[in-house]
Amino acid sequence: MGMRSVAVACGALTLCLALTTATNPGFVVRITQAGLDYAQQQGIAILEKELAQLKLPDFSGKSGKVHYSFSSLRIPSFRLPYSRITPIPNVGLQVSISNAFAELNGDWRVKFLFIKGHGSFNVKVQNVNMKIILRLGSDTSGRPTISTSGCTATISNVRVRFSGKLAWLYNLFHRIIERKLRKTLESKVCDNVARSVQNELQKQVRTLPVTARIDDKIGIDYSLVAPPRATTQSLDLDLKGEFYSLAHRSPVPFSPLPLAFPSDHERMVYFGASSYFFNTAGIAYHEAGALVFEITEAMIPKEAGFRLDTYLFSAFIPQLEEMYPNMPMKFKLSTPTAPFLTIGEGGISFQPIVDIQAYAILPNSSLAPLFLLSLTGNVSAVINVRSGRIVGSLDVGRIRLSLKDSAVGTFQVHFVQSIMNYLTSSVLLPRLNARLDEGFRLPLPDRIQLSNILVRFHQNFLLLGADVRFQPRG
Ligand SMILES: *[C@@H]1O[C@H](CO)[C@@H](O)[C@H](O)[C@H]1NC(C)=O
Ligand SMILES: *[C@@H]1O[C@H](CO)[C@@H](O)[C@H](O)[C@H]1NC(C)=O
Repeated sequence: MGMRSVAVACGALTLCLALTTATNPGFVVRITQAGLDYAQQQGIAILEKELAQLKLPDFSGKSGKVHYSFSSLRIPSFRLPYSRITPIPNVGLQVSISNAFAELNGDWRVKFLFIKGHGSFNVKVQNVNMKIILRLGSDTSGRPTISTSGCTATISNVRVRFSGKLAWLYNLFHRIIERKLRKTLESKVCDNVARSVQNELQKQVRTLPVTARIDDKIGIDYSLVAPPRATTQSLDLDLKGEFYSLAHRSPVPFSPLPLAFPSDHERMVYFGASSYFFNTAGIAYHEAGALVFEITEAMIPKEAGFRLDTYLFSAFIPQLEEMYPNMPMKFKLSTPTAPFLTIGEGGISFQPIVDIQAYAILPNSSLAPLFLLSLTGNVSAVINVRSGRIVGSLDVGRIRLSLKDSAVGTFQVHFVQSIMNYLTSSVLLPRLNARLDEGFRLPLPDRIQLSNILVRFHQNFLLLGADVRFQPRG
């Protein structure tokens, strides 16, 4: 069913909803437990800093005849030596923290009958255990959503030490204080976590871009097509993975095929780049007019031993000699349709159709069309990842030529076969491969570096596995 007929069906039926929600991803990102472990190492320092910002309220109370108040509570350190982020199937992520340790300082004030005292105190909070469950989802713009769907915090040990002259007073109420502090902390910690997630994390993910410019003509859409999917082993993100022309984004005339993602989870991250991902790139570049290429005299290597002129071809095309004697030539290559590749377990292959228009360059520099060839061939692609970019190179098998049109009389195409073979392998291919070697950026934040890269082909998609390193700024 074409795009237009889907639109018609959608207009008529409410079935449309089912059709549009069951979208296959064009690009899948898998973050495994190893990736989460790495993220946890990076994230824990940030969390420690956040927790040290906890604002604790002043509190006061009465125990028997003792009135006490505590103020200016500060947390100079919050250590999280043991923590883990694990995926929770169908929910999101769990952050568990055990044996955390915190230290608090503050001022105390106490009144007992006619005795008054004040000073400072230090509290050591040990054995803090926390479990925070983060529910992950996606909104209509394809951005992730994040919220706390559960939080527990327990503290098993609070020790208060007072300084000041009236140390004996401390003994009268330290247990009460310790219990009250413990309770305050237990509830405050979860409140604060929920507020941080809501105000900081959720606010940040809401501003995440879901499209990016690849160059001045092409963009890529990597919005989520479904909520993040957590399993016991990993967190999978199904992204649109669709390239489009910045000047004019038009609907893609085919849909992404389902990806049978393997259960690999050794590397920190995996990327599944589907044939949809590559084919929308083909369409976008084709529509942007980027798949046009010229072969001119200047590109012919010196050692070729010939010049690109009408003299070279006149041996096979006698009319050329009469009509355009000894004139330089040039070829314009274009694709009448966007290339369409398939990915199988053996690799990437495609059969491009390329129009090759030959021109004679007249003395006044205008171009006289000579003949139009159609070239097809089996092209295979090798893919790799370098510096966060997908890079590739093409290999072309035997090319097949046919004559589509001629202004200089018909001729036997096989006469020009060897010249075209040479132009393809020694002029066109090295230039295409130089471009592919520059590669295409993976949708990764700037400071993420990949190592230990695995590249494997599956039906309909290319699987990339890698370990990640986060480059600190500066
Ligand atoms: C160039 O020369 C050709 C033939 O001599 C002529 O037909 C054509 O109009 C000229 N073009 C320009 C731009 O002068
Ligand atoms: C391309 O490969 C297919 C199948 O392997 C084959 O049938 C076809 O002839 C090849 N085309 C060319 C131009 O070699």
